[in-house]
Amino acid sequence: MNHETEPPRYAEPDESNVRSLVEAFYRRVDDDPLLGPIFSRELTGRWDEHLAKMTTFWSSLVLGSKQYRGNVQEAHRPLGDIEPQHFARWLSLFLNTVEARYEPAAAVQFMEPALRIAQSLQLSKFGWDYPIPAEQQELLAALKRLRTGGEPQPDLPARSGGEPFPARFVGRGKPG
Ligand code: HEM
Repeated sequence: MNHETEPPRYAEPDESNVRSLVEAFYRRVDDDPLLGPIFSRELTGRWDEHLAKMTTFWSSLVLGSKQYRGNVQEAHRPLGDIEPQHFARWLSLFLNTVEARYEPAAAVQFMEPALRIAQSLQLSKFGWDYPIPAEQQELLAALKRLRTGGEPQPDLPARSGGEPFPARFVGRGKPG
């Protein structure tokens, strides 16, 4: 393995290393035989815009900068030719890039949201009964345990009566 070209591992995410993570990740995506063609087809002439948007997105998640405005589900809806193997490749490139650049405590801050969002995109692309690959589920569960200090997850609180479940999400409609 060539260690000379590896950048230092950061202990904490900050604006500049998030930008550089995003650039490194999409260089690998662009070079990847499976993912490269999809991204270049979709993003020709718009790479700079995409990198800036993704930097904002990750900064919002890991730095709490709250600048990202967008809809991740909607952005992926037009991509009709995405298959399970694309997600596997995306995740493996992303997790490897993060792991090489951040110390573990910082790395998990990227990994857990990536796995959660990937899962929600997979379910909406492939159907709610799509079986998320076991190793992906296990990794997400392990990261969650790390974050919560290995404590058993508390039971969900009993739901107070009254509010039907979907109301929070779909709105109440017009009164009367
Ligand atoms: C198979 C895997 C994936 C593929 C092929 C893919 C592809 C793309 C493409 C082509 C775009 C640009 C859309 C456009 O501007 O026209 C995009 C946007 C985006 N992707 Fe992915 N993506 C994948 C997985 C993920 C995952 C797992 C995440 C979770 C972190 C993610 C987060 C985003 C975000 C935040 C945007 C910008 C959304 C916006 O426009 O606001 N993607 N993706």
